[in-house]
Amino acid sequence: MASVSSVRSLREAGCGRTRQTRRWTDRGLTLLVSCILFGATAMSFAQASAIRYDAQSRIFRIDAADMSYVFGVNETGDLQSLYWGRKLAPGDSFPAAHSEPGWGSFDLPVNTTPHEYVGWGGGLYYAPDLKITFPDGNRDLVLHYVSHSIDGDTLRIEMKDISREVYVHLEYKVDEATGILRRSAVVENKTGQPFTIEEASSATWNLPAASDYELRYLTGRWGGEWGLQKEAMHPGRTVLESRRGSTGHQNNPWFAIERGDSGDQDHGNVWFGALGWSGSWQIAIEQMQSRQVRVTGGFNPFDFAYVLKAGESLQLPDFYGGYSADGIGGASRLLDRFELSAILPEAPQPRPRPVLYNSWEATGFNVDEAGQEALAEKAASIGVERFVMDDGWFGERDTDHAGLGDWWPNPQKFPHGLKPLIDKVHSLGMDFGLWVEPEMVNPDSKLYREHPDWVLNFPGRPRSELRNQLVLNLARPDVRAYIFGVLDKLLTDNDIAFLKWDYNRNWSEPGWPAVAPDEEKEVYVKYTENLYSILRELRARHPKVEIESCSGGGGRVDLGILRYTDEVWPSDNTDPFDRLSIQNGFTYAYTPGVMMAWVTDSPSWMNDRSTSLTYRFLVSMQGSLGIGANLNKWTPEDFATAKALVAQYKEVRETVQHGSLYRLISPLHGSEYSATESVSINKDQAVAFALLHSSQMSYPYPRLYLRGLDAGATYRFHMMDGQAAAGTPETASGDYWMNAGVQLDLRGDFQAAAFTLERTGAQ
Ligand code: GLA
Repeated sequence: MASVSSVRSLREAGCGRTRQTRRWTDRGLTLLVSCILFGATAMSFAQASAIRYDAQSRIFRIDAADMSYVFGVNETGDLQSLYWGRKLAPGDSFPAAHSEPGWGSFDLPVNTTPHEYVGWGGGLYYAPDLKITFPDGNRDLVLHYVSHSIDGDTLRIEMKDISREVYVHLEYKVDEATGILRRSAVVENKTGQPFTIEEASSATWNLPAASDYELRYLTGRWGGEWGLQKEAMHPGRTVLESRRGSTGHQNNPWFAIERGDSGDQDHGNVWFGALGWSGSWQIAIEQMQSRQVRVTGGFNPFDFAYVLKAGESLQLPDFYGGYSADGIGGASRLLDRFELSAILPEAPQPRPRPVLYNSWEATGFNVDEAGQEALAEKAASIGVERFVMDDGWFGERDTDHAGLGDWWPNPQKFPHGLKPLIDKVHSLGMDFGLWVEPEMVNPDSKLYREHPDWVLNFPGRPRSELRNQLVLNLARPDVRAYIFGVLDKLLTDNDIAFLKWDYNRNWSEPGWPAVAPDEEKEVYVKYTENLYSILRELRARHPKVEIESCSGGGGRVDLGILRYTDEVWPSDNTDPFDRLSIQNGFTYAYTPGVMMAWVTDSPSWMNDRSTSLTYRFLVSMQGSLGIGANLNKWTPEDFATAKALVAQYKEVRETVQHGSLYRLISPLHGSEYSATESVSINKDQAVAFALLHSSQMSYPYPRLYLRGLDAGATYRFHMMDGQAAAGTPETASGDYWMNAGVQLDLRGDFQAAAFTLERTGAQ
């Protein structure tokens, strides 16, 4: 539960302009400072700070990077959106907000006025941010502005229901470098009685009426995540959601809206957003009858109820939003920057991902000390930096039928515990990682036999198994304590650098019989809060440990879990050709710096497709490289190829993982080709990967026109793998590479090439 300090409106105190406030306890002093400051400067928005309030017009304005965001308090007391888009001139001002007239005798103004945050009440028909049922049956909630405070990059606004003591504390935090806003809300109950929250969203984002909006979002399923969808928006509602208890493979909590299809990656207006929540979530994107657009996101209202007791508060998830004038490519580059500098546990400077080996696809559950040590030696010989032992090392885990929940080494497979293997891995110059799936239990386990009541279930009903496992109810304090305890012990007893934290099924029968019936549905919130708190506490106690979020591939990837995890597993599908579209979709919402990409065996188990080792490497090298092949089957040539490519990858990984990504050719819609380019932040290095599906009619590979280089600088061309057409210059200007381009000589099926450009000086 969040505790919230109340703030008072400086406006009430009669100060013309408020810029900086403190909590109301030292209000007198703050008021004085604010009035003097603003008395001495012009009455305009031409202040240096990112967040300003004009008391006369009652307008808030947030400026950062290339973005301005403006909203006001209208005559009714609603928070009304006024502008979100390209940065405006400092002197540009807006007239005071006035609620829109309703429409005919069918819509009150609440349905035509764009609200920053709106309760269900007063005749609202669109998705509310907050819906409450009070104990007396009353369900009307109308929230009005009460007060605000501005503290550097953060604006806090207090809203209150028109008659009841229900408070909502909104927060807007702006990221200076990217202009991305983090919006969140806390609901506080001061009514003296409990009430039931039935819908709770963090924020609503508004765009003005237009008929040429295009919506992008991500869809998928297990083994086929990150499908990028794009469609024209029409009046009506598109709901992106998960009802599964976790983020889900089916939709990811990200959206982007373009106005006017520029048909180009790097031009045009794009608004985008992402929700930081790893439980059931919803983003409702509505084009209203007036063609205005509103996007509301937060907890999924399906099967949801939260009893907020008197005096309690409920923190709602962070909902991030940004604007780019540089097209969808620019939008994803802003999000990448933001994730690296403001979200990840090691932000603002996350370490690059080490090259990893994982034996899952090679050995399955068949792990033991000797077998893992033999693989570790082979992995070390090609330059791997982290050796990860996957599933199968613990309890009675010989298949997926048993063992989950029993987190101690299997005594037959590891008679002396994990130490001998970990020591061996260290002696080979690698660090050691381990697979865990802490939230799950097999009925065939010691844990389940002792605590059958610990799983999600409705008494007297079937407990549906998926992959022979049940979900532990992490909302329960005893389950939380058990999971934290076993992981803390594992990390204390062993020198483990990395956990691959898996989560291999979704919820069914999500009952919580141990609590009162009206509190059972709180499981959707309390489970996820406890998951975050375990991750947070583990990281605090073991600061060197890094964590990967995996859920049967990309089932739990979002900006909530990424605050506590350093990388994610985008998909169990490691077929390199499929991976091109998986990686393409993934990078619209998440940085390649967290996108693990393994080289595995050919033919792929997914599609039975055969590809060369080089092709597989050049696909995986576009993300954070890992190797998941059975090294016991590799030839000396394979080892030589891998060693050379791993060494080359280390030369470009900073650029790939933390640089700017440009999509030169999309792999979607049956494309014969695809190509990406990454440019280092200082523009000293670029690396491009070009993939050919199948040559047809002897057409040449499309010429690649690089992007994002320093036009006047000179760059040296170097082929990492494959061939460029004869006559490709050794050095040329950024302008040359961007406008004359590079002709590769790629022919055949499933071929790949990669090259770098290194700055050698200015022209
Ligand atoms: C999930 C993961 C795989 C592997 C298996 C182990 O499917 O996504 O990478 O770890 O579990 O059971």
